Amino acid sequence: MTNSEIQRMSTPVEEVSQQLESKQDIGFVFDIDGVLLKGKKRIVEATEIITYLQKEKIPFILLTNGGGMTEKKRIDFINMTLQLETPIHPDQLIQAHTPMKTLIPHHKRVLICGGPKDDVREVAESYGFEDVIRPVDIIRANPTIWPYHMFTDEQIEQWGRDPNDTKLDVDGTGCKENLPIDSILCFNDSRALGAEIQIISDLLNSENGVLGTRRTVKSSKPSIPIVFSNNDFLWANEFVQPRFAMGVLKIATQTIYSKINGGEELEQLTLGKPEKVCYDYAHHILIDWRDVLLGKKKAGNVCLPQLNNEPLNSPFKKVYMVGDNPESDITGGNRYNWGTILVKTGVYQEGDFERNPEISKPSLGVFANVKEGVMPVSYTHLRAHETGA
Ligand code: G3P
Ligand code: MG
Repeated sequence: MTNSEIQRMSTPVEEVSQQLESKQDIGFVFDIDGVLLKGKKRIVEATEIITYLQKEKIPFILLTNGGGMTEKKRIDFINMTLQLETPIHPDQLIQAHTPMKTLIPHHKRVLICGGPKDDVREVAESYGFEDVIRPVDIIRANPTIWPYHMFTDEQIEQWGRDPNDTKLDVDGTGCKENLPIDSILCFNDSRALGAEIQIISDLLNSENGVLGTRRTVKSSKPSIPIVFSNNDFLWANEFVQPRFAMGVLKIATQTIYSKINGGEELEQLTLGKPEKVCYDYAHHILIDWRDVLLGKKKAGNVCLPQLNNEPLNSPFKKVYMVGDNPESDITGGNRYNWGTILVKTGVYQEGDFERNPEISKPSLGVFANVKEGVMPVSYTHLRAHETGA
């Protein structure tokens, strides 16, 4: 055994862990749609770069403005689609509605909007929301509230809850109770846009969240609060051009609210990228995952950062946000002083900067795909770590 091998062998444990810590002083935050996946299809290079970071134990998490199912279901789908040998842990996934867990103490009876079928009810109840109401529950209680709804009788029966259980006696359906709704949480992109716009507007302009009532005042402050999980106007799926996302529900809701309230602008809360509240939340989760990689904590008990709580003394020297959408990923990452990497596999398309000079530019540049964007940064960091540079 050569001297240098003996030298390497005799490195004390704490020095190795220090070396390991310095290897983990960079981290990556990956957007999902348009970076790792396109709709239900994988972006091949994503598998390679995720596998590389896992092998090198470089901390990374996924931060999406998407959602609509539990974090476990979404990460299982991502692991299967990316064909990863080592699965990404659910603790590494933040969906647009994940931070809404922190709202539970203040919001008991909530209208949860968006998402496919009735899946977001499962998500909200898994978070701990006690009294979840869905738009389809309201349609079941009184279908005339939105006569143009496209729910079939079977869907209403299957997805909608009995008005006696949801306490939704809207206009005298006979269950006798019509309890107020505390707030409106828009979890995921709408699949019933018309019905949701109507019901949301009814509640924002009701008497204290009681469906079927109408307040007399005009105000910027709605009758009950509304929270949008993100502001995305567009997202990239398999179609040749980006598709509308949650942002269109928000724009419609704001426009209608102003029309009803004499031009007043709706007071609302929007989470998700590019909002700072989202990046603070993600920063805590990334720090947490780094501790898992360093063996300082066990996976499966991820922290629950409170909203608007910026991490102090972050262990990261540099974090890189990798996205496809300049308006959300790059704007948010730049504002948060993270390095930003834009890829061409999603919303951003060649020529967008010329068409829209004011959109945010990535600090590290534009790359064909996630592997070409991330490999140089991580490889350089690891080589520098090895040479002690
Ligand atoms: O809901 C879909 C859309 O908002 C996608 O988000 O952040 O994964 O590109 P993202
Ligand atoms: Mg995206």
